Amino acid sequence: MNKDVNKKIEQLRRKIREHDYLYYVLNQPEISDRQYDKLFAELKALEEANPELITPDSPTQRVSGRPLEGFGTVRHAAAMLSMDNTYNADELRAFDERVRKQLGSDDYDYVVELKIDGVAISLRYEKGVLVTAATRGDGRVGDDVTANVRTIKAVPLVLRDGDPRIAGSIKASDAAPDVLEVRGEVYMPTGAFVELNRLRAEAGEQAFANPRNAAAGSLKLLDARITAARNLSFFAYAAGELSEPLAETHYESLEKFKKFGLPVNPNIKRAADIDKVIDICLGWDNKRSELDYQIDGMVIKVNRFEQREILGATGRAPRWCISYKFAAEQAETVIESIDVQVGKSGILTPVANLTPVLLAGTTVKRASLHNFDMLAKLDVRCGDTVIIEKAGEIIPQVVEVRIDQRKDSVDEAFRMPLECPICGHKVEKDENDVYIRCDNQNCIAKFKERLEHFVGKGQMDIETLGPSLIEKLVDAGLLKNISDIYKLKRQDLIDFEGMGEKSSDNVIKAIDRSKNNPLWRFLSGLGIRHIGGQTAQTLAKYFGTLDEVLSLDRRELKEFKQIEREKKKSLDKKHKKNEITEEEYKKECGNLQLTDIGDEMISSLCDYIENEDNKDILKEILRLGVKPKRNTNEKTSEILIGNTIVVTGTLKNFSRQQIEQAIKDNGGKSSSSVSKNTTFVLAGENPGSKIKKAQELGIKIINENEFLRLIEEKPM
Ligand code: IVH
Repeated sequence: MNKDVNKKIEQLRRKIREHDYLYYVLNQPEISDRQYDKLFAELKALEEANPELITPDSPTQRVSGRPLEGFGTVRHAAAMLSMDNTYNADELRAFDERVRKQLGSDDYDYVVELKIDGVAISLRYEKGVLVTAATRGDGRVGDDVTANVRTIKAVPLVLRDGDPRIAGSIKASDAAPDVLEVRGEVYMPTGAFVELNRLRAEAGEQAFANPRNAAAGSLKLLDARITAARNLSFFAYAAGELSEPLAETHYESLEKFKKFGLPVNPNIKRAADIDKVIDICLGWDNKRSELDYQIDGMVIKVNRFEQREILGATGRAPRWCISYKFAAEQAETVIESIDVQVGKSGILTPVANLTPVLLAGTTVKRASLHNFDMLAKLDVRCGDTVIIEKAGEIIPQVVEVRIDQRKDSVDEAFRMPLECPICGHKVEKDENDVYIRCDNQNCIAKFKERLEHFVGKGQMDIETLGPSLIEKLVDAGLLKNISDIYKLKRQDLIDFEGMGEKSSDNVIKAIDRSKNNPLWRFLSGLGIRHIGGQTAQTLAKYFGTLDEVLSLDRRELKEFKQIEREKKKSLDKKHKKNEITEEEYKKECGNLQLTDIGDEMISSLCDYIENEDNKDILKEILRLGVKPKRNTNEKTSEILIGNTIVVTGTLKNFSRQQIEQAIKDNGGKSSSSVSKNTTFVLAGENPGSKIKKAQELGIKIINENEFLRLIEEKPM
């Protein structure tokens, strides 16, 4: 029976994959959306009734269940380089000259492709199964975004295989190599982008500036369920690491990609010479608005791999390819007003509010005026007619004032601000700098980010006080420094959009609860440079209370650190010479308190605490009833009595030693291997094979935040 069901399930999976292939790769769907949905529903129902038959490569398994805690990193087997740019036909000819000269021959051809304006992704298939998807990052190491990329339907979870016995499969000789790294672009179709921004505007959320930002933002979500709803798509355009060569030319390898079930852009053309290349490029400059995705230029690639080898690469870009960038699209509109915005690092930027105008597929209402020097040079004034363009297709910018159209009624020249428009702090222009900066550490623009960190999960964990509420409270002047969090009243919150009585109560309750959080969480939340969760744990143990932190003495602290350093040195020596046992050594080292703390950290902490403004705020916090809990070496709770816990992966807030101590402090036992006696596995980032073992044995797996809540006895 089970065997029959399994066969049916496999059949349905194959059918669905085949229709995905017809739809995404060949652009020739053979069934209607409804018929497809029916097949999918049938598979889903069968899998639900037989969960033991679910495999991760099933089309139903694109979205994983739980949100991630953060992104791991992936080292690219072959570096992801960038590309040099050209902007006109002459520069393209110069590129062609270089190619000819270096090859010493006229016998070469090009492939011309659209330059899709999305996010570069590297997909790694092993034995035909998608194992990782990573962003470009710095070209060598990127973020692991596998969970999110799996939700993109155009990305096959398994490649079409070469088993000749299976109908619809490709010839065995055409099967994909065992290791196949596929490079391509994840993008958001323009229609999906416009719809997403419409929904965001409705929900009072900030709109994405363009489809590329929307695609990038969607890939960086921790909850893949949200990514799945974002309608991203994908085109493959190159291979990275390969266990065996695919073909002799790029064009043939793209043909192979299609056979494997990978979507390749249909507008790829071979060009025998540079004249043909230029022809194709210029043609697309006018046609690009017909596409339902954004392109920012064309990519021209030497076709033969052998010739690419000869051409090689500079440090950052290959010499066998070049991009041809389209000129930015321009539009004419009128300046209605000029605002001054304060960025995260405190830089003041003049921003123009415009009469809305359509530009490169989006409606533009605001444009950057760069900086005040530029503003003065352009002499932009309210009421002026201006030309705007999308620089790098991201933020529209004002590039020209139509002085000929200036009316007598325009405002006077704009004056440089003397004060930060947010906090009122005096601002001055640095002589060598074009920027005007607000240096006030407590300036709201920087402050919002610091607040978000303070209330964040790994810190004070005031989950109900999210970024959009923080933004509103700061803008309303209710939060001017962190101590103000503890002054908030239910009545302050109730009037904000989206806040009812219940949610206001919940926020106040969560704030109250946080008052007795452990000291380390509080310290970590302050966002002091160099002091993250682990360091904060050590410091909290040393100081014990916030009062003690406030009365720290830089000299004393440094002396103490020096004494411990000497002690450690002598212990190491004795240990090396076997003058003490391993156990004694460990015990003695355990008595040292600040060995993990570097001089930089101490200086940074002292600088922070010695700052009078900071001190006042911390004192105010104490006065408002915040009393961070001391963490001691004695048992802090008995919550883990009878529990055997296995820790795997890297934790954000604990070193190995610290987590073992925390388990012990709460009455539990830690063990290094998973067995049926394990109560639960605590999994951090990049967990090892222990997870698999735990899954096999049906043992509960929890993450760091869940663990913290458990030992801090908060409701999960
Ligand atoms: S090939 C050595 N082909 O453009 C670079 N890239 O500016 C090989 N891009 O990061 C890349 N469409 O994300 C290639 N058809 C295409 C492309 C393309 C868009 C992006 C890619 C890369 C960026 C370089």
